[in-house]
Amino acid sequence: MRKTLIAGNWKMNLTVTEAEKFFKAFKIQKKEGTELLFCPPFTDIPIARFFLDRSSIRWGAQNVYPEEKGAFTGEISAPMLKDLGCSYVICGHSERRQILGESDEFVARKVKAVLENDMIPILCVGETEEERKEGQTEERIGSEIRTALFALSKEETAKMVIAYEPIWAIGSGQAATPKDAEEIASFIRKTVKEAAGKKAADEVRILYGGSVNGDNISHFLKQKNIDGALIGGASLKPDTMIDIYNKA
Ligand code: G3P
Repeated sequence: MRKTLIAGNWKMNLTVTEAEKFFKAFKIQKKEGTELLFCPPFTDIPIARFFLDRSSIRWGAQNVYPEEKGAFTGEISAPMLKDLGCSYVICGHSERRQILGESDEFVARKVKAVLENDMIPILCVGETEEERKEGQTEERIGSEIRTALFALSKEETAKMVIAYEPIWAIGSGQAATPKDAEEIASFIRKTVKEAAGKKAADEVRILYGGSVNGDNISHFLKQKNIDGALIGGASLKPDTMIDIYNKA
């Protein structure tokens, strides 16, 4: 039985002062079987920890550098995130792949570093509008997943979360249809099965991300292969995130 995961990705939003205000206003009634996670910017992780420490809500990071320590100015390592109590780390978000040129191989190293430090990677995969039109969605996603899983054991793969985020749906207000998202989620599970076997494929959690809100969340969660959501814009306000969590 896979546990539902509702994860907020704040991206480069909310100062420490704003984050403090957010967490003061964020009150939920815990639901069994649904995990809630916030991935704020690095600078907000200590304040997230302060507010969420004695709750069931988890916190994580949006990125990591795949080396343990050393001369990597400006970077943050997996042991540093672990020490801040992070449970999850987003790896290979399309914004990082597109804006910062992260390759599938570099993302794979991040996934490995996160697992080696006893945290859970949320591997983001997804196609551009153009790739979708040209029928290359499965080819793109298949290669992103195979590269990320290449150096992992079956047990490591089973622990992962894979977020399907069609790039054209991110921040556009135009989410994929639940049926289309389910079709890709099922393809993702099949790809994991081919790479790491049935047990890992049954256990890996698959999220949908891209313009998720309180109106569409339940439609995504009804799909057989979708185990949760990765939420951007709607995770920035306490009331919209509470609404999504309550409907999940
Ligand atoms: O990682 C979440 C994200 O890319 C989706 O963003 O704003 O469309 O919910 P948004």
